Amino acid sequence: MLERIGEVAAEARRSIAGAADEESLRELQVRYLGRKGEVTALLKGMGGLPPEERPRVGGMVNALRDELTAAIEARHQEVQAQEIRRRLAATPFDATLPGIPRPVGALHPLSHIQEELEDIFLSMGFIIPDYPEAESEHFNFEALNIPDDHPARDMQDTFWLDLPGRLLLRTHTSPGQVRSMREFTPPFRAIFPGRVYRYEAVDASHEHTFHQVEGILVDREVSVANLIHSMKVLLAEIFGREMTIRLRPGYFPFVEPGFELDIRCTVCGGGGCPVCKRSGWLELLPCGLIHPAVLRAGGLDPGAWSGWAFGLGLSRLVMMKYGIDDIRLLLGGDVRFVEQFRKV
Ligand code: FA5
Repeated sequence: MLERIGEVAAEARRSIAGAADEESLRELQVRYLGRKGEVTALLKGMGGLPPEERPRVGGMVNALRDELTAAIEARHQEVQAQEIRRRLAATPFDATLPGIPRPVGALHPLSHIQEELEDIFLSMGFIIPDYPEAESEHFNFEALNIPDDHPARDMQDTFWLDLPGRLLLRTHTSPGQVRSMREFTPPFRAIFPGRVYRYEAVDASHEHTFHQVEGILVDREVSVANLIHSMKVLLAEIFGREMTIRLRPGYFPFVEPGFELDIRCTVCGGGGCPVCKRSGWLELLPCGLIHPAVLRAGGLDPGAWSGWAFGLGLSRLVMMKYGIDDIRLLLGGDVRFVEQFRKV
């Protein structure tokens, strides 16, 4: 019996070491370890041994079975690795072949201009806090000097949220004025860009969802001269050259005095064209000195503190910069539109 075990072991080791492919290994597995295999036959043959011999011989056969199982597995891995090396060697490799192009996304023009503006303002010492789009009636209207019965509420039609607490989708970024006064100790300057919502009839220049950038500066003795100078510096940075501006009176309950700031039309240079509706001017930037009631709502003493604020229509600025003639394209979700700005 011992002799037979030795023979089977020697022969199996030799065959496994010499097996050249997966098929031969499968055959060896069956030949030695299968139900009718040789190692199984050895185990079955133990019945003919004297009982005192059985544990020792049984142990040897079991050890042989484990050894052959491991050897077949190890050889199997070697054979697979050899096969991979063989195939690689047989496949010509051309390092100059172009790769598989992967689709690459791009910034939306709104995000792009917003990031540009943020860089400009950061370099001028502004901070950029973030404020909620679901806003309270208090911050959106009351704190901005627009009480419940004030006709100015009609200027901004509102989406009310069906939630407790008189919440709405903010109609402008101006609620950030009071929020920032409560959050930061003056003097400070901040911008808050973001999405705003109005229950509007949509057309080529009006969306129900659009973007604004609010700016605010709070300090001592801020004047209209400070406001005009700051707006001119800001526009020169945005457009990369000095812009000709004009101020018209504008009514917003949260500023006093309030202005509509227009820039000379960037398309026709002031001669009159369809973009500026033949007026030579583009309405761009409502602004003004912060109303004392708003300073008070922000917890500041209007006798000690003053400031200016502006509300830039970011969506309109993007349209102006890229010559986009319909605002609905911006958030319309048409990939063909957005893809045109891949290289912007
Ligand atoms: C306001 O929203 C004021 N909060 C702006 C402000 C801030 C004034 C600080 C003074 C001081 P107005 O409703 O005019 O104002 O909107 C500001 C800008 O948002 C407009 O000049 C315009 O560029 C843009 N805008 C307004 N409505 C729409 C709309 N439906 N679609 C796209 N852009 C719009």
